[in-house]
Amino acid sequence: MKVAPVLVVLSILFIGLSDAYEILVIFPSLGKSQHIIGSALARGLAEKGHEVTMIAAFPTEPATENVHDIVTRLDLGMLEGAPINFYETGEYPFEELMIVYKLGAFVANSTLGSKGVQKLMNSNQTFDIIICEAFAIEAFLGLSHHFHAPVISLSTLGASGFTAQMADFPGSQSYIPNLFLPYTDKMTLLERIFNIMTETIERLLYEWYHIPIQEKIYNEYFRDPKPSLRETINNISLVLLNTHFSLSFPRPYATNVIEVGGLHINRKSQPLPADIQSFIDSAKFGVIYFSMGTNLRGVDLAAEKRNAILAVFGSLKQKVLWKWEDESLPGKPNNVLIKSWFPQDDILAQPNVKLFITHGGLLSTTESIYHGVPIVGIPVFGDQHLNMARAEKIGIGVRMDLKNLDEVNFKAAVIEVLTNEKYTHRVKKMSELFRDQPQTPLDSAIFWVEYIARHGGAPHMKSTGQELSCIQYYNIDALMVIFTIIIIFIYALGRVFSMIRSVLCGSKQRCDPKVNIKKRK
Ligand SMILES: *[C@@H]1O[C@H](CO)[C@@H](O)[C@H](O)[C@H]1NC(C)=O
Ligand SMILES: *[C@@H]1O[C@H](CO)[C@@H](O)[C@H](O)[C@H]1NC(C)=O
Ligand SMILES: *[C@@H]1O[C@H](CO)[C@@H](O)[C@H](O)[C@H]1NC(C)=O
Repeated sequence: MKVAPVLVVLSILFIGLSDAYEILVIFPSLGKSQHIIGSALARGLAEKGHEVTMIAAFPTEPATENVHDIVTRLDLGMLEGAPINFYETGEYPFEELMIVYKLGAFVANSTLGSKGVQKLMNSNQTFDIIICEAFAIEAFLGLSHHFHAPVISLSTLGASGFTAQMADFPGSQSYIPNLFLPYTDKMTLLERIFNIMTETIERLLYEWYHIPIQEKIYNEYFRDPKPSLRETINNISLVLLNTHFSLSFPRPYATNVIEVGGLHINRKSQPLPADIQSFIDSAKFGVIYFSMGTNLRGVDLAAEKRNAILAVFGSLKQKVLWKWEDESLPGKPNNVLIKSWFPQDDILAQPNVKLFITHGGLLSTTESIYHGVPIVGIPVFGDQHLNMARAEKIGIGVRMDLKNLDEVNFKAAVIEVLTNEKYTHRVKKMSELFRDQPQTPLDSAIFWVEYIARHGGAPHMKSTGQELSCIQYYNIDALMVIFTIIIIFIYALGRVFSMIRSVLCGSKQRCDPKVNIKKRK
């Protein structure tokens, strides 16, 4: 009698649990902003009842039930040649890319060799699915073979050189600018030439410089027999991109590439710390929020630029929140509040915040659009130039070159965005477009992760485009055959024609019009 209800409960439990997966999330990058995206997905999955193991440089915040952290505590200071002052990189073409490769090699090697990861690899733990950041750390893909689990790659940047080999990315360089270039989707001939060149050099560096380093690390940590690293890169099941067509230039993707831009955004704002809230509420003329992200530290900013910024802030009616990592800021005007960290998302959600001064990182531009706050962007590194080129093109803000940053220019840019209504207007419209989606980006990401787990890697989603060689992909061989046939056909037609002519005319003279004309005369 008592067995039946127990069975019912057990079967409900079983059905409930049968949908729960063991998920490994690998997000070891040293950038806090990348970690924010990875841990947002990890937490989202855990809240859906999945068991998540997270390999990262930082612990998951806030700590979440079902998210088991393996924290490496790596930091940039351990890197050879550290510390890197990101304000001073990017003087030579591809210098930034080389830094990213170097960082990636360091992160992959140190993380795979860390105690926590080694313990995990030698345990009996199994995983149904692996989610790995796409940021120069391909060696980690060896864990796919190790745990016999399909891999989903999550790119915090959007489609980049690192995702190019993971799925089929159709579309032409004639309208898709390289991530490292400040171009829009409408390029001049010269810009297109630079775009092709940049893309080609990036590809070559990736193939001949970056991948061999990652292969070395891959071979160091994963025992044979194993597939080659290039095979594993090609075998990735799904690519999630932290972008959305309403934020970026529209472009085509293969079926197994999904846009989930803004998945980290707090849809429900959290209350702010009391001091920040009262600072914002007491600002009669609104608040400016100034942050250069997590990698660019205020203290690395050259003194004359800093003084120019301080002078401008001091002259404004608005109050300013400045993310500044030191205890004190010499010459700080009274209307400026400094803190080493601000809950950016919740601050931008405040209606009294009128302007965001940013480095133009993807998280920051995404958040500014979501919350409808116009920006003044000072791009410094990587895709920030591209993001700001885009922001300027769509009219949600003004770009300020760090080189030209002085009191006059900076003030002009700030005043322009604060007083000209068109920026706020436009960014509010963009916000409306970005929010108009059938599912939140996080729900969409969770759905696709579960989908890939349910269907054993979902090979049916992968286009065969990836299995083709370059010559086959662009149909160069087929076009050559067609072209050859056309040439042969034209040649044959010419021969037939001249044969017919010689049969009809008999001799050359009879058909020669000049000869005939002379005869008639
Ligand atoms: C793994 O499983 C084997 C056999 O099932 C067992 O002997 C061993 O102790 C387990 N190892 C760990 C680390 O749990
Ligand atoms: C590719 O992935 C599928 C499923 O995700 C797996 O079964 C297969 O072994 C993988 N192949 C290689 C070469 O890694
Ligand atoms: C990885 O790190 C180990 C020491 O921690 C070092 O011996 C090895 O050369 C590194 N490998 C690569 C490819 O950098």
